[in-house]
Amino acid sequence: MGMKEKLAELHEVMNRELSETDGMQALDALRVKMLGKKGELTALLRGMGQLSPEERPAAGQMINEAREKFTAMLEEKQAALKAKERALALAREKLDVTQPAEIPAMGSMHPVNLVMQEMVDCFAGMGFEVVEGPEVELDHYNFELMNIPKNHPARDAQDTFYVDDNIVLRTHTSPMQARTMLTRKPPIRVVCPGRVYRADEVDATHSPVFHQMEGLVIDKDVNMADLRGTLNAFAERIYGKGITTRFRPSFFPFTEPSTEVDLTCAACHGKGCRVCKGTGWIEVLGGGMVNPKVLEMCGIDSSVYSGFAFGIGLERIAMQRYAIPDMRLLYEGDVRFLGQYR
Ligand code: PHE
Repeated sequence: MGMKEKLAELHEVMNRELSETDGMQALDALRVKMLGKKGELTALLRGMGQLSPEERPAAGQMINEAREKFTAMLEEKQAALKAKERALALAREKLDVTQPAEIPAMGSMHPVNLVMQEMVDCFAGMGFEVVEGPEVELDHYNFELMNIPKNHPARDAQDTFYVDDNIVLRTHTSPMQARTMLTRKPPIRVVCPGRVYRADEVDATHSPVFHQMEGLVIDKDVNMADLRGTLNAFAERIYGKGITTRFRPSFFPFTEPSTEVDLTCAACHGKGCRVCKGTGWIEVLGGGMVNPKVLEMCGIDSSVYSGFAFGIGLERIAMQRYAIPDMRLLYEGDVRFLGQYR
């Protein structure tokens, strides 16, 4: 077979194999087979030694032309394969930017935190500062300085979680009254929101862990009307105009006189429901004029200064505000319920 025929045959092999090649690896194999050091064309070049000197230049030229031709063919195929791969990758990695995003589930504000924030805003607007104190509290602050001596019924183990003889889980935020008076000079205007603990059975209106916000004002000439005005401003701010407060005489060892303050039940607008146990009123706070005995124990001259204090139950405020019929809903952590509040 002459050189020409041999090359024509190789050309055909190239054509056939190229058309069958569908990957870079196969293409590389074909390149090696045709153009490699041990490939077909190299073999032909080697075989030229058997040709007569006259034939050689023409044969060499043909082989070189074939090499160029084959190289071009391989390059063309390679470009085609690359384009195809790219098209496939583009199709595979296509990103639909118009597709609606999956929105990760987000937490929501707890209703108790919502009212806490709103109340802090409200009192901050009236010039109160926020202070915070320990939930694990010394008996001394929780009881002694609040004029609740040893063997007072409020200390009964039924009500109080004792850590040891001298340490309790605070049963109210009132110990912050003492802590504040002992560390600050009048005029004092603070609120203290936080968790408190009482050994209560769980029901629609009770929980062993709940929240209060303490308020304390100490200055010259502070009187009960100031307390009334402050609480009315608070009630209107939280519930809107027309919500009334009802002051009932009461007793707390640390205030004298003392009052229990009810607000119109927002769940039933005063008609009577489960939340207000049919009375139309919700008791949301206790308050009064700081007992002069407490002032003196906390280093404040009761002949110069007077003050008022109050303690607001945040759960009750939240339940009224959002017409939540059962306190347990606040603690069960059911996101179907909690997710409603933002
Ligand atoms: N500490 C009282 C309670 O927990 C509330 C209160 C606070 C009353 C301040 C008077 C003054 O019920």
